[in-house]
Formats: sequence, structure tokens, C-alpha cells
Amino acid sequence: RYKAVIFDLDGVITDTAHYHYLAWKRLAESEGLPFDEAFNEHLKGVDRMGSLELILAQGSRSYSQEEKLALADAKNRHYVELIATMTPADVLPGVLDALAEVRAAGMGIGLASVSKNAFTVLDKLGIRDRFDQVVDAALIANSKPHPEIFLTAARQLGVDPKDCLGVEDAVAGVASIKDAGMVAVGVGSPEVLTRADYVIPSMARFRLGDY
Ligand code: BG6
Ligand code: MG
Repeated sequence: RYKAVIFDLDGVITDTAHYHYLAWKRLAESEGLPFDEAFNEHLKGVDRMGSLELILAQGSRSYSQEEKLALADAKNRHYVELIATMTPADVLPGVLDALAEVRAAGMGIGLASVSKNAFTVLDKLGIRDRFDQVVDAALIANSKPHPEIFLTAARQLGVDPKDCLGVEDAVAGVASIKDAGMVAVGVGSPEVLTRADYVIPSMARFRLGDY
């Protein structure tokens, strides 16, 4: 039925969503701003500056562009420290089987992450060569929830968006998939990922034939 499957990275392939959470939490708290898991759901899938804007909007002070860049840079340095120790053992359960299942079905495999650290993470996990196409986040003007990144992945793979299945853990990511005209598999909770066509609790439950 599908010609390609396009995966998100953070929170789908590996648990870097947790590292982003830790790094944003420390940043928010250093600015005296509230931060919890529920608020973090809104940040998932959103690019670095977009996430920072959402965090700073929780307070009343205004920040210069220079201050914002310094804060984003501090968060990224902390994040890079956190991912430094990652190894192939950090690929989430079920992911390698899912990639093999899609490959065996003869479908294209894409990666659509707005993270500028995506290539580094893929290399640490040792799985870059399992993807036919990896979108370069530096070339994406509009972060998720905008559909640009999933549409770009489909174009790079040479397939029509309607022939693509997208896999995402974030509310913004599922919106990006749906607005690209694709079918969405959410990884997480159905109460959170309300726009997903299918929801699985983890990649260990990914079965291509179910969608
Ligand atoms: C997304 C994550 O994949 O990448 C977000 O879900 C993160 O949490 C975004 O903010 C940008 O990542 P980076 O590595 O470019 O700061
Ligand atoms: Mg994600």
C-alpha cells in the first residue's frame, strides 16, 4: 500500500526526546521559568529557536535577539554533552526490526527530524546507512507542525506524500504528517496524539501490515 515510510528521530528511533527535555528544563529553570512534562509535550518536534520562544513566553521579561541566541546555544551545549555517550545500544527496542520490515517490503525509508544534531545522533547509533534519505534540518525553513519537512522527505525519496506513512512521537510531528497528506502512526499515548491515524505505545509494537 505505501511506497515509503518516513520516521522522526528524537523519541522514535532513540530516547533523545528525554535529553532535549532535560536540557530545556535546566535552561528554563536558570531563567526562573516554569517547566514540566506537560509543557514539554508542546516543545517536542519544534525546532531550537521555536522551542526557546515558547519557553520564554511563559515569563514576562523580553529578551534581545542576542540573549536568545546565547540561551539557545547554552541549551545546545548541554544537549551535545548529554548525547556524547550514546552508542548503538541506544536504538530503541523494535526500531531495527521496523526498519528491516520496511526495507524487506521494498519501500523507501526516510528520516524527517528538525534537529540540527540529527546526523550526529544517527552516526552515534550507527544507523545512518539504513535510511535512503535524511532531510537536512538546516535547509528547512518551517519547523513542525508545518508539513515542510515531511513533504521534503517525500520529494527526496521521489514518492507522492499520499503514498507515505509517517511515524512520530510528537503532537507537532503528527500535525506535520497529516498536513502533508500522509498517514500517521503515533508513538505514545492516544490521548496526546489525537490526530494520529494509529497509535502504538512504543516502536516494539510497530507492524507495517497493521496500517
Ligand atoms: C526535534 C526535537 O527533533 O529537534 C525537539 O523533538 C528539538 O525537542 C528539535 O528542539 C531541534 O533540535 P536541535 O538538536 O536542532 O536543537
Ligand atoms: Mg520526536
